[in-house]
Amino acid sequence: MQKLVVGNLKMNMESVSQRDTYCKEFKEEFKDLKTDHVVALCPPNIYLEHFCKEFTHTPVIMGAQDCFWELYGSYTGNTSPKTIQSLGAEMVIVGHSERRKYNHETNEDIAQKVAISLRVGIMPIICVGYLDTEDEMESVRAQVNIIVDNFTTDDMENLVFAYEPMWAIGSGKTPTTDEIHTMIMLIRSIVSARHGKDVAENVAILYGGSVVAENVTEVCTNAYADGVLIGRASLSPSNFARIVRMLG
Ligand code: 13P
Repeated sequence: MQKLVVGNLKMNMESVSQRDTYCKEFKEEFKDLKTDHVVALCPPNIYLEHFCKEFTHTPVIMGAQDCFWELYGSYTGNTSPKTIQSLGAEMVIVGHSERRKYNHETNEDIAQKVAISLRVGIMPIICVGYLDTEDEMESVRAQVNIIVDNFTTDDMENLVFAYEPMWAIGSGKTPTTDEIHTMIMLIRSIVSARHGKDVAENVAILYGGSVVAENVTEVCTNAYADGVLIGRASLSPSNFARIVRMLG
């Protein structure tokens, strides 16, 4: 079964020379890697144009790490989804817990970003999870409900959810496969209640949080995730390639 393997490089490439080294190593690692899985990279937005050009003739898909909820105007420092789309990127991460935490983004903000991304034809990867102070089930329910209530059945085919418990991010700890599966089933049941069983079965749900080569098969096979959103391990092209290879 084809999986979506997304590298979220976060704010971890401070200089142009680091960026260039990464692109070179990544291309080297992936040039002979035959895979049926979909591999995507989300570099810092400021490098997106460069990555889009570097990876034009490769199967690797590009994505942004965030976007704003308007297409243009007086919004200093924000990134228009239209710009992201015109660079050739095909996806955008929205609602990452780091943005919910440090930029105080709300479920309503995120729903607006999803709406505008779908409008310009880029696929939102909607992160859901919970902050340490919150009840996990309730948080995820609210985060998913606002999406299923405000978007059509057709929209559900063009978006992806990513379950990312905040405590698992960068900690080296992961939930058990049963716990991940339970949350994936919760998300599917919320989608099903509003859009029906078929749509719920087909909506892609990724897992993110300390994914490495050693646990990716478990996450995708035993926990039935449709793919993974990888932070730290994607910073090393060779580790990233190992993860893709593990998926067969
Ligand atoms: P880590 O893989 O570093 O835990 O990060 C996960 C993440 O936040 C991906 O968006």
